[in-house]
Amino acid sequence: MLKEGNSKISKSTHLPRKRFFRARAHSNPLSDSHFPVPISPSHVDYSVHFPQLFSSSDEGGDSKKIEFADVGCGFGGLLISLSTLFPQTLMIGMEIRDKVTEYVKERILALRVANPGQYQNVSVVRTNSMKYIPNYFGKGQLSKMFFLFPDPHFKEKNHRRRVISTHLLDEYAYVLGIGGIIYTITDVEELGDWMNECLEGHPMFEAITEEELEADPVVKLLSSATEEGQKVARNEGQTFQAVYRRIAPSL
Ligand SMILES: C[S@@+](CC[C@H](N)C(=O)[O-])C[C@H]1O[C@@H](n2cnc3c(N)ncnc32)[C@H](O)[C@@H]1O
Repeated sequence: MLKEGNSKISKSTHLPRKRFFRARAHSNPLSDSHFPVPISPSHVDYSVHFPQLFSSSDEGGDSKKIEFADVGCGFGGLLISLSTLFPQTLMIGMEIRDKVTEYVKERILALRVANPGQYQNVSVVRTNSMKYIPNYFGKGQLSKMFFLFPDPHFKEKNHRRRVISTHLLDEYAYVLGIGGIIYTITDVEELGDWMNECLEGHPMFEAITEEELEADPVVKLLSSATEEGQKVARNEGQTFQAVYRRIAPSL
């Protein structure tokens, strides 16, 4: 039997152990944190995020771009599943808590070592998505955005901290290409209604039909692949999802 001791990496699974990356439950998205922010999408250093795919001189210029963003990715479960489901697609998690971001970084590095050639298309960045989405992605760059089990911010005075709002949807509509999809899910009914209402009322989004939801393999991952989704499933909780498509402006 291998002794785990104080190693941050599990000797049996070779993956990082969550107890060494404990973080506060919440971070205030309206307060200023200190982390580097690229001044524009073309300044995102792709060689740092995807070293096997880009050389050190590659910034997000003309070459292949990140297409999926998991906003508030937490411990990264969705990204890990998406990485092998879409091996040709570059994707990134955005996470505000530093310890949680570190955990996801270690998790990806460990998976790359254990599975040569795989997980090269996935990365994570510590950032405040409420402020810096346009610093990372250009107009129409993304084809999928995920907002899975976002913090509910129950009190009315804190609704402005919610990651889905009419004003932020303007930004998401800008970075999503036409036909791009925004996936949201929560176990808080009131937040589910709020996200649905924001999306329904926004002129740049339309609801995905039931048939399309059924046919989309990603929809099944919203609950099953994320750490929060698994927690809700264990407690037999209900979930409320809203999945919308970015549409062209009507003339
Ligand atoms: C409840 S967790 C859900 C995590 C993950 N999506 C899942 O389903 O397991 C919400 C996550 O969003 C992160 N978060 C909250 N506000 C954020 C912001 N403004 N920018 C980036 N991440 C944020 C939190 O730190 C937390 O890890």
